[in-house]
Amino acid sequence: MSIKRHRGTQVIHAGLPKAEQGKPFNNGPAFASTYHLSGPADSAEHQYGRFSNPTWQALEQGLSELEGGETVIFPSGMAAAAAIMSSLVVAGETIVLPSDGYFAIRAYAHEFLEPNGINLKLVRTKDLLAFDYTNVRLVLVESPSNPLLDVVDIKALSAKVHSAGGLIAIDNTTLTVLGQRPLELGADLSMSADTKALNGHSDVVFGHVSAATSMLIERVRLWRKLAGNIPGPMETWLVHRGLATLDVRLERMVSNAQKVAEMLANHPAVKSVRYPGLPSDASYAIAKEQMDHFGFIISFDLGSIQAADRFLQAASLVFEATSFGGVHTIAERRARWGTDNVPEGLVRLSVGCERIVDLLDAFETALAT
Ligand SMILES: Cc1ncc(COP(=O)(O)O)c(C=O)c1O
Repeated sequence: MSIKRHRGTQVIHAGLPKAEQGKPFNNGPAFASTYHLSGPADSAEHQYGRFSNPTWQALEQGLSELEGGETVIFPSGMAAAAAIMSSLVVAGETIVLPSDGYFAIRAYAHEFLEPNGINLKLVRTKDLLAFDYTNVRLVLVESPSNPLLDVVDIKALSAKVHSAGGLIAIDNTTLTVLGQRPLELGADLSMSADTKALNGHSDVVFGHVSAATSMLIERVRLWRKLAGNIPGPMETWLVHRGLATLDVRLERMVSNAQKVAEMLANHPAVKSVRYPGLPSDASYAIAKEQMDHFGFIISFDLGSIQAADRFLQAASLVFEATSFGGVHTIAERRARWGTDNVPEGLVRLSVGCERIVDLLDAFETALAT
């Protein structure tokens, strides 16, 4: 009898080798550029390091089980996004991207797809459901979006895009597969920058794409093989190791984030707060229905560059850095990059695994400055 286990349990076991007497729980990284291969070129499981690797296979098997669709891993989240856009859309076709999502994804499309005849349309996350998808080949959106945390109804959007004959991919980076399963909600592809919470230790850049059909994932896999955009075995092994603790890390991060968001929402120095777990937030209703947790990212506006910088300098325990999803709490004034259309005083905060008592103390002290 097969038992459907909780996904929080699955992450600990996903992709591990079959238990065998005297064998390790987890195989180490397989460092190989080539493999013994005599006779016909396809007579061995592994032939050449750009085509496949046993360490990739283990992680891909684990992620496929969790995502509910076959998975291909990449050396970064951007490589995963580029693989989707470059392998599934050709000249004359149209891609829709969020105008308020992670900026490098629209920058890639602008720099490398538009000049080759692919049309690009940018739509705000909150306007996605009202958009007309006639003649759109691919929609690649984030939910919740980074950095403003707007949430789109993935089921409804998938139905709308499909009825117009297009494909929909969801960037699931801000929640991970333990927060939302885009393929189950109707998307054709799910992708993630595993650099963030999935690896979780701020020491690896990584990504993956999962797809609902073998036709789609084979195009993505072929793009990886021919573009040579492959992950290293060491990074792959580290991400697999990080995956095992994803559930326990998220449990702490999400519960911390809820408490920090509530504190920020009631603080007179804070102009506004975005966190999908606040009942007053514009994303709350759909987030509650669609997501398994509210995430660990909070965006809040301190009203000015000076106030945000003062806060970041005064907040002990908080590393000022870009990125999110690690065990350490980090924050940055997002407008410093000049790439996002956000208020100058907006701080994007990624809440880590520290004890809540210390976090609240650090934030209250810093806000008092
Ligand atoms: C939502 C989202 N998608 C994709 C990426 C790109 O990931 P990477 O930096 O691993 O290439 C990021 C990076 O911040 C991101 O926030």
